[in-house]
Amino acid sequence: KPVVLIMAGGKGERFWPRSTVSTPKQLQKIYSNKTLLQETIDRARAFTSADRIFIGCNPSLKKAIQKGHKIPDAQFVLEPEGRNTAPIIALAALQLESRFPGSVQVILSADHFIQPLDRFAESMKAGMTLAQQDYLVTCGIVPTRPDPGYGYIQPRKSEVLKPAGWMIEQFHEKPDIEKAAGYVKDGFLWNSGIFLWKGSVILEEFRKHAPEILQPLEKTYKSAAALKKVFPTLPEQPIDIAIMERSQRRAVVPASFQWDDVGSWLALERIRSESADADGNIFAGEKTQTAAFDARGNIIVPNSKRLIALLGVKDLVYVETDTSVLIATKERLNDIKKLIAKLKEKP
Ligand code: GDD
Ligand code: MG
Repeated sequence: KPVVLIMAGGKGERFWPRSTVSTPKQLQKIYSNKTLLQETIDRARAFTSADRIFIGCNPSLKKAIQKGHKIPDAQFVLEPEGRNTAPIIALAALQLESRFPGSVQVILSADHFIQPLDRFAESMKAGMTLAQQDYLVTCGIVPTRPDPGYGYIQPRKSEVLKPAGWMIEQFHEKPDIEKAAGYVKDGFLWNSGIFLWKGSVILEEFRKHAPEILQPLEKTYKSAAALKKVFPTLPEQPIDIAIMERSQRRAVVPASFQWDDVGSWLALERIRSESADADGNIFAGEKTQTAAFDARGNIIVPNSKRLIALLGVKDLVYVETDTSVLIATKERLNDIKKLIAKLKEKP
């Protein structure tokens, strides 16, 4: 059975005002009555046992996580501070390889929507077989739009791997939109951010392509105090750039499941489309009374039992919490980080 690392240390700012530093989006219920993290844990249970599921995050988030999720202390890989995904993956690789030598390590993100679970488990099984053959494996998704927020993978279709998949010819993390459009046309796949590899193999690749991350960790990974000094000095890099763009032993398994990176409120249009009314308005609250007249394509995320009525508005995003309300156009939602920066300026 593989070991699983769920990366849960992201800020998820795009889900403001629901997501905050102390309760980032992983701890929010975005598309179901479970948190994104709980959805991810349940997903991991489709192919491994509960005692082999580890959460990668910082100590303060660990406390917040343990309030709502039953995860023993020993099942956290703790980073003194977030340095993007490459450092936490290297740290986990060291710690988990010493605890479960020879095991395949599966890396999951805490912010995905995936269904159905049996198809997901099938893809994981295929990925595990390739990981056993010493490949760095990622799960590839057929793209539906030229989104610059993803990694793009060119499979080497001439070389089919068994039981499924291809070697990777090129990996390009977050290209600009023009390049992304070209990649979509040329049959590239999206990187799902779901990785499978042997601990020993990913460590070799770190040694080769990112020794500046691995070496300091090799000396300190057993001691929380030593890590605390070294971790903040590590380069802040995603795994996609530190390793996946550079490695020569990469393979991609095609995903046979429905997948979405729950990246912003706009994701609700894709993953909750069944709950839209005839005019494409999505009301994400469970108990809220709603009414819409001549209103189209709005995304409404209420937080109370107040009636919410729409008249003549279109393509708005409305999100309530106990303390804040966001009202934005869908078109401008991409600028939410600028809005948050502006809010932080205020005394
Ligand atoms: N522990 C920890 N520490 N976790 C982190 C950190 C960190 O510093 N930064 C991010 N994470 C977690 C997030 O919480 C999320 O679950 C996962 O790692 C991925 O990080 P994102 O910040 O959401 O990455 P992304 O969506 O921009 O890009 C990645 O995922 C895409 C698909 O969702 C890349 O792998 C892309 O290539 C990929 O297409
Ligand atoms: Mg993401």
